[in-house]
Amino acid sequence: MTRTAILGVGHHVPSKVVTNDDLAKLFDTSDEWIQQRTGIKERRFIEKDNTGPSDLAVPAVKMACERAGIDVAEIDAIIFATLSPDFNFPGSGCFLGDKLGLPGVPALDVRNQCSGFLYGLQVADAWIRAGMYRRVALVGGEVHSTGLDFSDAGRDVAVLFGDGAACAILGPTEDTSRCVLDTEIHADGSGAKLLWTEAPASAYIPRITHEMIDDRRVWPAMNGKQVFRWATAKMPEVALSVLERNGVGIDDLALLVPHQANRRINELVAQKLKLPPDKVMHNIMHYGNTTAASIPLALSEAIEQGRAKAGDLLLFAAFGSGFTWGASLVRL
Ligand code: ACO
Repeated sequence: MTRTAILGVGHHVPSKVVTNDDLAKLFDTSDEWIQQRTGIKERRFIEKDNTGPSDLAVPAVKMACERAGIDVAEIDAIIFATLSPDFNFPGSGCFLGDKLGLPGVPALDVRNQCSGFLYGLQVADAWIRAGMYRRVALVGGEVHSTGLDFSDAGRDVAVLFGDGAACAILGPTEDTSRCVLDTEIHADGSGAKLLWTEAPASAYIPRITHEMIDDRRVWPAMNGKQVFRWATAKMPEVALSVLERNGVGIDDLALLVPHQANRRINELVAQKLKLPPDKVMHNIMHYGNTTAASIPLALSEAIEQGRAKAGDLLLFAAFGSGFTWGASLVRL
């Protein structure tokens, strides 16, 4: 029976480090507030104009291919998860395919925010198991820094996000002991407007007005307390559902690699799962929330640091705008 293996993982972040103190020069905040509420110490921002998520993804894909032991030219499908596509259309996957020199290779953009990597993983897993593709580049990439409100009015959101990209190369395996075991994903649009960017919007005539800009409806808006409450309920719920369905106990897990939205959220999730703190991967302190890139970025670093090794049982879990959430069980 053909299953899906993670063949290699890579990542890339821009070199510009932006500390909490740097942000405190732009608006009313402090290193103490940000660290205490979120665990974030610094994040990366793009330095040059005309650097989109697809540009950050190019070195991430190349690193993932190298680690997978394949040529970039072998990629036969791209899935690009992002909430900050390079342009309104076409999708970032098309730009990435061109930059990698992959004419004709299909490119699917996934717009499921922080859960985008898990949505993409379920699609890629189905494609590979159906025998449709053999080398899928599943990418998460974001450039948030050009879309944040760096004023006092936007400080609750602006401190959270960073730029970055990561990629997992997925391919078929007959080894059913080392593969993607299961992925469960969900959405509930009743929470859509609790974390969103409203304008420009094709639903409005016209899509964009000066008033919308003046009223700050062009920046991301979030009800942080509601997102926190939902995330700490839904992430453990979906994680337990996947574990139970696969007959896996918490003790069997080598590492939880959660979406990095807030260190406190992930500590609470671990507590609810009764998972010891040393079995949870955190890298939010260095990168902030990189949305669709955060799980593969954390996975790439976990592998580099020897915290996730071949044969380890890993659990991914995410919650984000949509609302969307999910969990995935993988034997590396
Ligand atoms: N610096 C200093 N003070 C701030 C800042 C800031 N950056 N932002 C807000 N505050 C103030 C508020 O104005 C408020 O002041 P007040 O008490 O005088 O009114 C006070 O700090 C407390 O604000 P709260 O919103 O109550 O703070 P909370 O403890 O809820 O923490 C936070 C805010 C960190 C955003 C938290 O709610 C959170 O992490 N929520 C989840 C966010 C999340 O996970 N998003 C991920 C999804 S991202 C995606 O899918 C795209």
